[in-house]
Amino acid sequence: MTAQLIDGVALSKKIRAEVAGRAARLTARGVRPGLAVVLVGDNPASQVYVRNKVKACEENGLHSVLEKYDAGLSEAELLARIGALNDDPAIHGILVQLPLPPHIDAHKVIEAISPAKDVDGFHVGSAGALMVGQPGFRPCTPYGCMKMLESIGCNPKGKHAVVIGRSNIVGKPMAMLLLQASATVTVCHSATPDLAFHTRQADIVVAAVGKRNVLTADMVKPGAVVIDVGMNRNDEGKLCGDVDFDGVKEVAGWITPVPGGVGPMTITMLLVNTIESAERAAG
Ligand code: GUN
Repeated sequence: MTAQLIDGVALSKKIRAEVAGRAARLTARGVRPGLAVVLVGDNPASQVYVRNKVKACEENGLHSVLEKYDAGLSEAELLARIGALNDDPAIHGILVQLPLPPHIDAHKVIEAISPAKDVDGFHVGSAGALMVGQPGFRPCTPYGCMKMLESIGCNPKGKHAVVIGRSNIVGKPMAMLLLQASATVTVCHSATPDLAFHTRQADIVVAAVGKRNVLTADMVKPGAVVIDVGMNRNDEGKLCGDVDFDGVKEVAGWITPVPGGVGPMTITMLLVNTIESAERAAG
């Protein structure tokens, strides 16, 4: 069997076109959706991510502000900037790129963002809203994974989903979204004794650990949907995911590639969250 590809680039293009239409309608009403992206320090990967986020805003009619600070910025100074952005009516979404330098408490900074502008969905208020099924911003990567399932007509209801990874950014919210969609969800992690035992029973596998070849062909049920959130480099320096793509694509029914799978969807859902925030602000 050869799996069908879930094309994150094509799906992103479609959703971004909808975002651009919503942004144009809001702008015509006098509310230009605005995202503030805050970067502290010079982490090379973070610099690429924030550049791509700002570029995506520009391409789709959103206003964006990139605030770059050197690694010596104090926690108090950063908190003061967050406060000012919370009060800025031109800004509907605030994103503080992680990781932050070690002298800054990331939790404290995220909690300082107004939940109404928490388009990353990392605030405890957003996480709590997801937990109890109330409206709030969903973290962009798992939200994008759900959109990918929807795009191939995969309804998680009644399916067994295995999430590999338990991070606050992906694993835990992914499990919550799948549960909300009535899947039976198993969360596996570094202390799970027999990962393959679980993944072999899964109709949907989401791999989000940040380690190559966590999921190999022998661990996958024929026909399963495999979503690869990983972003790693192989020995030749090429971008690869957590899934052994060449092996697993011969067993799975559907699979996301890396690159061109989940990656573009994360930024797309950030745009969606920012538009939603601006629409709420506009009434
Ligand atoms: N660092 C890695 N991924 C993300 C993300 O989705 N949002 C933020 N703010 N920082 C990140």
